[in-house]
Amino acid sequence: MNVMSFDPENCTRCGICVEICPLGIISRDDVNMPYIPDKMEYVCAKCGNCEAFCPTDAISPLFDTEHSVLADAVLPDITPEQLGLYMRERRSIRNYKAEPVDKATIESMLDIVRYAPSGVNNQPVHWLIVHDTAKVQKLTRITIDWMRGVVGSDTANPMRPVMQGLIAAYDNGKDPICRGAPHVAIAHALADNPMAYTDSIIALSWFELVAPAFGIGACWGGFLKIAVTSCKALIDELGLPEGHAVQYAMMFGYPKHEVYNIPGRNASRITWK
Ligand SMILES: Cc1cc2nc3c(=O)[nH]c(=O)nc-3n(C[C@H](O)[C@H](O)[C@H](O)COP(=O)(O)O)c2cc1C
Repeated sequence: MNVMSFDPENCTRCGICVEICPLGIISRDDVNMPYIPDKMEYVCAKCGNCEAFCPTDAISPLFDTEHSVLADAVLPDITPEQLGLYMRERRSIRNYKAEPVDKATIESMLDIVRYAPSGVNNQPVHWLIVHDTAKVQKLTRITIDWMRGVVGSDTANPMRPVMQGLIAAYDNGKDPICRGAPHVAIAHALADNPMAYTDSIIALSWFELVAPAFGIGACWGGFLKIAVTSCKALIDELGLPEGHAVQYAMMFGYPKHEVYNIPGRNASRITWK
């Protein structure tokens, strides 16, 4: 296995790759040329940090099709104020237009989201996009049916009053689970991967943040997630690959209403030492 090669022509022996490698597997030979000892190659997480931080492009791209040199890219300057405004303007969207988001747009969003960090660069997240709005409505129906069962049989369940409210809203013609969204994104991964949940939450956070740049709004599907942990009908409906479990869900679509204001939040609680 040859995970990485170093170009002796371009390499200036600066040693940044040795310093930057998170797993410390890059050594230097007697003329200071970096290399990865054979026995260490299997350890490489393929994070590409050596490639990213090499100032002279001397490290072979791990993924040929994706290597891009920042100096050639057009990167607009984003001030902290602009980014802060963009992030603070994000809202949970619970009212959607009926207009669907086309699959190419969703793929473009996920093409950005796949760069989200993951533990040891494991990239465990898979996506199930419930694109068919009738199937999204079915997820709500199954969840509400499951809640009716819980409310009827589990009187000690702490979620019972909330579930009763959700059922009442549903019976009044509302969709309190998927919020009438045209689509649902479900992050799923191998159930026995202990890091997959955190990685999925990070990926979904990226999804929610990237959405407004595409004119799209999203909302975390907390009730859907609660139901899917124990509702077999919902698990069967999703039909995930063998061994996979839902990590979390998010509704999304084109927002029906504009955002005009940014509501307040608690002040940061910081301890300095
Ligand atoms: C983990 C998580 C689960 C959530 N589940 C739901 C949900 O099931 N339904 C819903 O309408 N909103 C849900 N929300 C949205 C929160 O209510 C919302 O983030 C919060 O009220 C703050 O509003 P904002 O997102 O517009 O800033 C969830 C948010 C998070 C982070």
